[in-house]
Amino acid sequence: MPKEIWPVIDKPAIQFIVEEAKASGIEEVIFVSNAKKKFVLDYFKGSPAPLKKILSSRKKTEAIKALEELEELIKGVTFSSVMQDRPMGDGHAILQALPKLKKEPAGVLFGDDIVESTVPCLQQLINVYATCEKPVLALYRLPKELLHSYGVVQVEKIANRVYKIKKIVEKPKPGEEPSDLAVIGKYILTPEVFDFLKTAKPNEKGEIVLADTFDKMLQAGKSIYGYEVEGKWLECGNKIAWLKTDLYLTLKDPQYGAELRKFAKDNNLI
Ligand code: G1P
Repeated sequence: MPKEIWPVIDKPAIQFIVEEAKASGIEEVIFVSNAKKKFVLDYFKGSPAPLKKILSSRKKTEAIKALEELEELIKGVTFSSVMQDRPMGDGHAILQALPKLKKEPAGVLFGDDIVESTVPCLQQLINVYATCEKPVLALYRLPKELLHSYGVVQVEKIANRVYKIKKIVEKPKPGEEPSDLAVIGKYILTPEVFDFLKTAKPNEKGEIVLADTFDKMLQAGKSIYGYEVEGKWLECGNKIAWLKTDLYLTLKDPQYGAELRKFAKDNNLI
């Protein structure tokens, strides 16, 4: 099962991402997918008409509520997908979507990074973009021992939480981290980034890596900004991260949290 459809609380992780996009004013969503992941686009097509009728006749109120929430979410948003049949890097994934983009900036959201926040994470990046009109990366401070799994930036602070990116090191070796600010998989990219991506060459693993393209741009004197996002970064990219994310959000959930806490207590789990 692709990890973006692993359930978190009671819906697929990708639904959190689509909710974030919609709450940030996005009206067009393009999934970069592969043939095996047809489920993702199908899911956001809404439910077949008879399903609601059947659920109603069987008084499945919880399922009906979930369907209605999904129907509300997809209202006013168009969904399409482009195929990336071989995993050739995040830069390559973005390149597949380019024919569908106009000459305008786009938000790029990885399917396994959720940010719990008051202002949706993408909206926070859009707010920074509105002032600089340059690419904006979501940043998050992490303990040193975790940084080797992420893109890590060298920065110059220019305002509260706003940074000018000087360098990006993808998955730095211990001792080589340029700061404790890691890149979350959420970006505002501009046509200039797309132009650089179009000329990017695959690395030794055959991948076109977005971080390498950012680095090329920085070397060419282009500006890229970063915003230390307000909120909590929750990951779903590996099993333990996903389990923690699910536990965290489920225990805080207004519908399920209290009952699950009681269950855990009654069973001497906490
Ligand atoms: C990707 C990016 C990395 C970023 C991370 C966030 O890595 O390459 O820069 O920090 O997402 O989730 P991946 O998770 O694909 O290894």
